Amino acid sequence: MKLLVVGGGGREHTIIKKLRENPEVTEIFALPGNGGIAADATCVNIAASDIDGIRDFAGKNGIDYAVVAPDDPLVLGCVDALESIGIPCFGPRANAAIIEGSKVFSKDLMKKYHIPTARYETFDDMEKALAYAAEAPLPTVVKADGLALGKGVIIAQTHEEAAQAITDMMEGGKFGHSGDRVVIEEFLEGPEVSVLAFTDGKTMVPMVSSMDHKRARDNDQGLNTGGMGTVAPNPYYTKEVADRCMKEIFLPTMNAMNAEGRTFKGCLYFGLMITKDGPRVIEYNCRFGDPETQVVLPLLETDLLTVMKAVTEERLSEVDVKYSDRHACCVILASDGYPEHYDRGFPLNIPDEVKDNVYVAGAAIKDGQLVTSGGRVVGCTAVADTLPEAIKEAYEIAGKVTFENRYCRRDIGARALAAYKE
Ligand code: AMP
Ligand code: GLY
Repeated sequence: MKLLVVGGGGREHTIIKKLRENPEVTEIFALPGNGGIAADATCVNIAASDIDGIRDFAGKNGIDYAVVAPDDPLVLGCVDALESIGIPCFGPRANAAIIEGSKVFSKDLMKKYHIPTARYETFDDMEKALAYAAEAPLPTVVKADGLALGKGVIIAQTHEEAAQAITDMMEGGKFGHSGDRVVIEEFLEGPEVSVLAFTDGKTMVPMVSSMDHKRARDNDQGLNTGGMGTVAPNPYYTKEVADRCMKEIFLPTMNAMNAEGRTFKGCLYFGLMITKDGPRVIEYNCRFGDPETQVVLPLLETDLLTVMKAVTEERLSEVDVKYSDRHACCVILASDGYPEHYDRGFPLNIPDEVKDNVYVAGAAIKDGQLVTSGGRVVGCTAVADTLPEAIKEAYEIAGKVTFENRYCRRDIGARALAAYKE
């Protein structure tokens, strides 16, 4: 079987390595992939947002099955385009990917179907947004409607900050058209949990829960990033919380999307906050999380391609999706300065002994040498019987991967460890 994976980060590298475990897979193309992914797939320089280019490539190269991993192509209709030429895909169509593509859509969906989330108002008129925010209890949360690379959320501690965020989004064009509409919502408190779930619109199969570490610096200081590390499972996601989430959030979301004529097929990501009043949805993503995937898929025991195809063919209920009961930790090595300014182009050395545990997020090949090309450079994952062992091993692996301006958080997993002791 010839597969195509759209995307080019650590998440895609993880998916590709897992797909390769299936003996029927003969070739994997990554569009665009990256210099590190090139060790495991044939990378073709077509951007993940170039929907026409992806469709044409897939049509000409006899692709049997495609996995569309990032949010942009999903929201732009990449799955619809590939399906239009008869290529089966893993991932939602555009009309379902809107669950991530528009926060106004997702908030209104939750309100309509009584899915627990922060109270909110939406605005397309800046004056009205400013007037509302001036009276809102503090802190208050301002969100750009559309995709904003994870940076479209401002937790305003003062009314001035809230007003600034609204002006930046709605007038300053900080996020382009993503900021034409804003959501202003109640600030919630509690531990955060990420749950990715396979769903074909009929069955919902949550994967192992995980914990992201979004801030750039130790002790959750510094700017928000795409994610500096993850652990799985997440200790805050107890059996009781999981049962409530299934009943109050996961199944109601699947049913709501069906009722709207927007059946969601693929991986639905629930960003949850476990408040004292119960679990609440912070956000939905229409795809695998990055770097959640780097800890969740290594724990998957069932063949990934088998699960994905069952989702596509709407027979997920027939597959017994099994997870290991071990622990995983992923430490991201980034370029110092990320998520703001950083240098790139430094030689990246990944010794053979750790290759299986390293997922490459941002690297290119220059004059035959692997060099850094992104803010997040690699994710180093270890799986072990206990969380302390997984953390220790992930840092040992990370210690063996070298490049000049290498930076990582030193406390990935510390909060989870503390939670187990509570
Ligand atoms: P999002 O991009 O929607 O996941 O938001 C980014 C981060 O902002 C989340 O991971 C939370 O830590 C935080 N956040 C978003 N919405 C809220 C909220 N209503 N209350 C508290 N924190 C929030
Ligand atoms: N790690 C969060 C995300 O993928 O959006």
